[in-house]
Amino acid sequence: MAKFNENFLELKESYLFSEVAKRVSTYKENHPEADVIRLGIGDVTLPLGRTVIEAMHSAADEMGMSETFRGYGPEQGYDFLRQAIAVHYRSFGVELDEDEIFVSDGAKSDTGNITDLFSRDNTVLIPDPVYPVYVDTNTMNGRNIVYINGTAENDFLPMPDRNVHADIIYICSPNNPTGACYNREQLREWVDYALENDAVILFDSAYETFVSDDSLPHSIYEIEGAKSCAVEFCSLSKTAGFTGTRCGYTIVPKFITSVSSEGVTMSLNKMWNRRQCTKFNGVPYVIQRAAAAVFTDEGQKETKAMTSLYMENARIISDTLSELGIRFTGGINSPYIWFECPFGMNSWEFFDYLLEKAEVVGTPGAGFGKNGDNWFRLTAFNDRKNTEEAMKRLKALFA
Ligand code: MLT
Repeated sequence: MAKFNENFLELKESYLFSEVAKRVSTYKENHPEADVIRLGIGDVTLPLGRTVIEAMHSAADEMGMSETFRGYGPEQGYDFLRQAIAVHYRSFGVELDEDEIFVSDGAKSDTGNITDLFSRDNTVLIPDPVYPVYVDTNTMNGRNIVYINGTAENDFLPMPDRNVHADIIYICSPNNPTGACYNREQLREWVDYALENDAVILFDSAYETFVSDDSLPHSIYEIEGAKSCAVEFCSLSKTAGFTGTRCGYTIVPKFITSVSSEGVTMSLNKMWNRRQCTKFNGVPYVIQRAAAAVFTDEGQKETKAMTSLYMENARIISDTLSELGIRFTGGINSPYIWFECPFGMNSWEFFDYLLEKAEVVGTPGAGFGKNGDNWFRLTAFNDRKNTEEAMKRLKALFA
């Protein structure tokens, strides 16, 4: 009989958002009349922009004509999209070679898939709380995980501990779930720490588009030295509404190397390319054309308009929490608002309470790590009317 990967025994029975969805659907089955407002999973609600849709339509037409039909594309992504991404990075003052850019079906897949490149014998440093994919994928591979605590005391922005060695470091900024965002000096410390430890930073910048404070970095490559130690993952999911359309990109600089136990050095860029060519056949042409449209002037205007609408929801949520005297972070450079559970409840208790008493869905902080046990996440990705209604219901719980 085939033996299974016993590391799976170490995982929680279900993935966080599957568990949330299961509880919500059970509630809806028992209360078919319920008007549930979802501020749980960070799934966008605004439709794709006009420019994006036009590009998608015209690419679909191309696929219907023998002169322009395309079969397999390059595993790394089409040149037109890699060029557009390189130009986008130039707006942050970052120069990338096109062959450092790999188009993918999203940051979730790539932050998990990148683990293929690393030996099991690495110490992985992961902030707690954080996006559960980093922990789950490394657990599946049986790697040793060291946690670094994000707490209200450090504004959920843990800094490196020089007494702890790490080989692989995950950073998500703006952070999912806390909405906290590292500044340049803080990222500089992380880069220095990685260089001192010969470590690789896996930097998830999926929420960079929500950074409105000009002093905050959008990319880790804005920090000198980062191209020698950091891989960056980004996504069009939250930026341009691609959660259902799936397109992201991963930057693997050519300078980064890793070493075998025998001292053989390999380029991570070459390894990632090898991995992708073996396991991935690229993002569909139609989707890549749509993604390229996001980076045009018109596409950027549409994207900014969407971001502002979501950030207006974030303001409504933050204002409500301030009014209720609840401690929170995020909501300024991030679509996530992370707050302390009221009524002395832990986060799953508050999840059930909020669902039953207010028919509002959020995400329990415990799903992001032990430091989230008494915290709760709401997203700004619903529409304004629902966000206002959800906040009205939340306030009513305190009446
Ligand atoms: C979240 O809610 O944390 C995100 O939607 C998850 C994801 O992007 O995969």
